[in-house]
Amino acid sequence: MGRPRKSKIEKDDPLAAEPSPGPDLDPNWGSRVRERLVAWYEHAKRPLPWRTDQTPYRILVSEMMLVQTTVTAVVPYFERFLNQFPTIQALAVADEAEVLKAWEGLGYYRRARQLHAAARAVVTEHGGTFPTTPDTIRALPGVGRYIAGAILSFAFDQPAPIVEANTQRVLSRWLAWREDLKSSRSQARLWEAAERLVPSQGAGVFNQAFMELGALLCTPRSPSCLVCPVAAECGARILGIQDLVPTTTPKSPPLEVAEACGLVVRDGRVLIVQRGPGRLWEHFWEFPTIHLNGVDPAGRSFADPVDLAEGIRRFTGARVRVGPVVQTVRYSVTKHRVKLDAYAATGLSEELNPGPGLVRAVWEVPEKLAAYTFGAASRRLVSWMAKHEADFHDFQSDR
Ligand code: ADE
Repeated sequence: MGRPRKSKIEKDDPLAAEPSPGPDLDPNWGSRVRERLVAWYEHAKRPLPWRTDQTPYRILVSEMMLVQTTVTAVVPYFERFLNQFPTIQALAVADEAEVLKAWEGLGYYRRARQLHAAARAVVTEHGGTFPTTPDTIRALPGVGRYIAGAILSFAFDQPAPIVEANTQRVLSRWLAWREDLKSSRSQARLWEAAERLVPSQGAGVFNQAFMELGALLCTPRSPSCLVCPVAAECGARILGIQDLVPTTTPKSPPLEVAEACGLVVRDGRVLIVQRGPGRLWEHFWEFPTIHLNGVDPAGRSFADPVDLAEGIRRFTGARVRVGPVVQTVRYSVTKHRVKLDAYAATGLSEELNPGPGLVRAVWEVPEKLAAYTFGAASRRLVSWMAKHEADFHDFQSDR
């Protein structure tokens, strides 16, 4: 384990020294860094699917998927997505439900909606031809400076800088930058350095090499300086502070949330509901879920089967009898850490009448659940149910 990250720089700390103006002001430093980095990349790069055939569409899809998600997790999604929507036109004419289904499990579903909206904008506003200027690319939904820089440099080899999670760590070490990365001064400084570094020709290869160094060698913990091609040019390495930068403010602890849902079965069918517009997980399907106030100090939820039965009745119109907790799923969403208790339950009435906030409520046979788009937590419950079908029949038989 490396040292804990620091938000404050204390006296006598090596980080407290005055920062130098920065090596990037010296054009010779920039040339050396570029040359060494690109030479290393040519033999070290991973054969990632978005690195072949670098069309702007493929780059847009991959970068949207890679925000907050690892390369390993993204590769199979990227390949399936491109098979299903091989062109930007194919994506533009798809239904939102199809796009969300293809994205299911990747998380950050707002990204999927933005990608879909960006495809539609390319078709409706640019006649289906991907725009090529920084302003028009940045005007696409979900495209900020970094994704625009990736498209401009990888697809069109324009000298656009990129600063994202990997490159900002690398840059902060090269510059021995001591300030919290989240500050606007830090961001401005890193973008300025990236802009100075990006070459007028070969920008795409340089930017990819830059990200790859961060992913493979200049890692958050224990960077591999001994084999780094740029170690001799790295300000942090020269000062011996490579384990101390970048500094980041520790995140505030997540808010604990408790929820309960019913796996309600009636005559071999399961009750599922679709969330309405304007809410988190808009249009996603789930098992009827109630939000509890919190958890008690021992970590037990306030869940009371009577509350859940009443909640399900209000949500869906169905009367249900709630049994035991059969599965607990934990997941994180935005700043919340959620504990979701799933209760076995029996449907006592058939008729459904979805309440406020829901679009639909349906009884569905388990074999058809795979066709619906569930959020990650509900998807885990669907898989779990498929493996424990007998438990539900037992519970239901004594209704
Ligand atoms: N992380 C973000 N974008 C990436 C890319 N294009 N290749 C590898 N890792 C990345």
